[in-house]
Parts: sequence; structure tokens; C-alpha cells
Amino acid sequence: MSRITIDAARCTRCGTCAATCPEAIFAAGEADATPKIVHESVCTSCGHCVAICPHDAIHHSDFPEGSIRPVDHDRLPSHEQVLELLRARRSLRDFEDEPVERELLEKVLDAARFAPTAHNTQSTEYIVIQDKAALDQVSELTARYFAAIAKQIRNPLTRVFVRMMSGSTYESVLGLLPDLEMLVEAAHEGKDLILRGAPCLVVCHAEVSVHFPDQNATLALHNATLAAETLGLGSFHLGYIVGACKRDKRIARLLDIPKNHEVYGAMAFGHPKRRFTKWIERKPPRVRWV
Ligand SMILES: Cc1cc2nc3c(=O)[nH]c(=O)nc-3n(C[C@H](O)[C@H](O)[C@H](O)COP(=O)(O)O)c2cc1C
Repeated sequence: MSRITIDAARCTRCGTCAATCPEAIFAAGEADATPKIVHESVCTSCGHCVAICPHDAIHHSDFPEGSIRPVDHDRLPSHEQVLELLRARRSLRDFEDEPVERELLEKVLDAARFAPTAHNTQSTEYIVIQDKAALDQVSELTARYFAAIAKQIRNPLTRVFVRMMSGSTYESVLGLLPDLEMLVEAAHEGKDLILRGAPCLVVCHAEVSVHFPDQNATLALHNATLAAETLGLGSFHLGYIVGACKRDKRIARLLDIPKNHEVYGAMAFGHPKRRFTKWIERKPPRVRWV
């Protein structure tokens, strides 16, 4: 049975669906006929056809009643408001020693799911870790992984493997060393420079067969960090944890991540001890207009 149907009584043959569908599923029909649905099997259920049809003539089985709502353009923030949010968002690493309310985290993840995903797979999954012992274990495993990497970088023979593994230049591999040594030394002294005392860690994972899983997770986390900012929460990306997860499966096992999945993003959240009161200039964009 067809997933997409067109209500002939409502359709005005305006062609909006055909012009919008990224998969070219709608083809002009004969003379006065409604558009034809062709190769529907490639439909990614992005819902563009349903969301744009000015006459509500398109029905898609993935979007039953209640899953389609009007956009209130009057409620959209202005360009200046969005810019203020983008400038106000900073990585925050100094948190109150208190848990983050589940209701707030649900709002943050609700925002994350509206990020674009390649082929609209919406395949990013999340693990929310608030258990102190589990958080400490993740930090410890990450620090141990980077202690081993730092040791390999120090040795000119094993440095070759690190360079090959990371696909980076010798300079950038060597450039990592001071940061890694600081991280490892701090861990020895009982200081956590990975999670930095954050009370909540969100780890993103997805099936390895998905298209662009890293980008999907990063975009979802960017939505999440912006939403967190508007809710008064602080957050920061945890590339260290993602890097450790790529090569060391102990964290994935600890978090019970399915075997055919990988970790593609991680972000810490918490109530900030203090908030940034100023925004700082950035480099101008380096652009070539052609
Ligand atoms: C992919 C990625 C990975 C990052 N990993 C870490 C991390 O492991 N630890 C950390 O403290 N900050 C991490 N950051 C935060 C950056 O250091 C931070 O975004 C950058 O210094 C700019 O500061 P801002 O986020 O306040 O604008 C990461 C950021 C990105 C985009």
C-alpha cells in the first residue's frame, strides 16, 4: 500500500510538492490530474511534502493526525535575538554540585531531535548519565586511554602508529602532548580535567552503518547546547570521551552501547556556578566569494 496519497479534491496541481520533495517523488500528472507518486521507495519521510502543501492535500502514513502542527512565524526569534544566543553560548565547565532536573534534560533532548540528519535517518541515540560512580568511571577510563596515547606519542617509534591512527601530521600529534600530559597528571592528583565535575553526561551513539553519524550527533548536540543555554544550563563538548570511545571499547561496554553502534558525540551539562556576562569577538570569517 502507498505511504503517500494525494487528496484529488483538495489538490490544485500547484506543483509545490514536486518543487519541494528532495527525492523527486512527485511527478506532474496528465493535464488536470493530481501529481503522480513515483519511486516512493526512496522517500526518507522528511515530511516536506506534508509540511509545505498549501491545501493539506497530501497524506503520509508516517505523519498521522497530531504529528503535523502549524509554524507560528510570529513566535520566531529575530536575527538579533538568535545572534545574541549564539554569542552568549560558551563552553561552561564550572558547575554547581547538584543534579540536573530530568524535566530540563528532556527539553534539551527534545531540541536535539530537530537537528538535520543525513538522509533524515534521525538515528542518533542518547545515554544520559547522572550516576556519580558511572561518571567517575567514564573519566577514569578516558584518562587511562590518553595516558597510553601520551606514552605512545613520547616514543618516536610508536608515535608513527598514533599518527596513522589519527590521520594527522606529526606536528599535530606532537602538539597534543602537553594537553594530554596535563590531563593525565591531573588525573593522578585526583583532579578531573575531563568531565570537570559535571553532574550530567550525555553520550550520543548510532549504528555504524548510518550515513554521516558524526555530523548527525554534532548537529544534535549543537541544538542541545543552544537549548541548554536558554534553560539556564551550562554545557560543553567532550571530544576527549568521543576520541577514547573510538579506540577503547571499555567505555562502550560500561555504558552498554550496542555492539553495532559507535559513540559519535558527548556533552556535559550542569547548573553553572556563574555565567558569562560578556561576549568576546571572534576572527572574521575567512571567505572567498566566487
Ligand atoms: C568537537 C569538539 C570537541 C571538544 N572537546 C572538548 C573536550 O573534550 N573538553 C573540553 O573541555 N572542551 C571541548 N570542546 C570545547 C572547545 O574547547 C570550545 O568549544 C572552544 O574552546 C571554543 O569555546 P566556546 O565553546 O566557549 O565558544 C570541544 C569542542 C568541540 C567543537
